[in-house]
Amino acid sequence: MHGIVDLSGLTVRFSESITAVDSFSLQLFEREFVSIVGPSGCGKTTVLNVLAGLIETYDGDAFIDGQRPIAGDSRVAYMLARDSLLPWRSALENASYGLEIRGIDETVRKERAAKLLSKVGLAGFEDAWPKTLSQGMRQRVALARTFCLESQLLLMDEPFGALDAQTKIQLEDLLLELWTTEARTVLFVTHDLSEAVALSDRVIVMSPRPGKILADVRVDLTRPRSVRQLQSDPKFLNLYGTIWKIFEQGVNNTAGCKS
Ligand SMILES: Nc1ncnc2c1ncn2[C@@H]1O[C@H](COP(=O)(O)OP(=O)(O)OP(=O)(O)O)[C@@H](O)[C@H]1O
Ligand SMILES: [Mg+2]
Repeated sequence: MHGIVDLSGLTVRFSESITAVDSFSLQLFEREFVSIVGPSGCGKTTVLNVLAGLIETYDGDAFIDGQRPIAGDSRVAYMLARDSLLPWRSALENASYGLEIRGIDETVRKERAAKLLSKVGLAGFEDAWPKTLSQGMRQRVALARTFCLESQLLLMDEPFGALDAQTKIQLEDLLLELWTTEARTVLFVTHDLSEAVALSDRVIVMSPRPGKILADVRVDLTRPRSVRQLQSDPKFLNLYGTIWKIFEQGVNNTAGCKS
């Protein structure tokens, strides 16, 4: 049985001396939420870039739903670390931008974008320019745009990295709600172990570069979850502690490695 994502022995070398990802194997099944954590430079973004079809030279195998990744694949939506809203487009026009690129009819895309903006708490802000929105509101628009696409697989690279702790928790809860109601499969990259545990079904811990998988930890916290309430849940804190230990051992064991 193949997964939505099938990576097998993925190895990405950028030069003789830089191996970014080493023998990385991962399967994701429909409607799973899986996070990858690991120290800076360990190859997290590289893995997402392979799946987005942006890196085509690698060893091993990469498949999305049984096919090789290609750039612009409508089954895949990619949400980046910083919001990448177009400053000359309103919130609604930004939210519907991906649909426009995919050639969807204007009435349909506006309707869908308005619905998603409302779901992320921005009803009434359809005509607002990005510069008039707070950072958290801008990321809400970016979330709306990502979910507007109706892609089965969402690749998310530290989408809440630039937000303050309170706003981050709000948007994490919002993401879980959208993920549940819109039925997507998510591969989520973050530095933040707490965020990874709170959101995910599984947390993949990577070693420092060259990034290998140190552990694939199942998060057996019940759903639906409230990220806010989890912060004081003993089971959550316990899992966080376990993953933190693996993460730290990985960093200590490979201290001094170059490639
Ligand atoms: N296009 C490229 N050319 C050369 N080296 C690259 C390229 N992209 C990434 N690298 C190198 O590959 C390694 C992994 O980079 P990557 O961006 O995947 O790390 P990361 O885990 O996402 O880090 P961060 O947490 O800081 O975002 C790094 O050492 C980086 O310098
Ligand atoms: Mg990165």
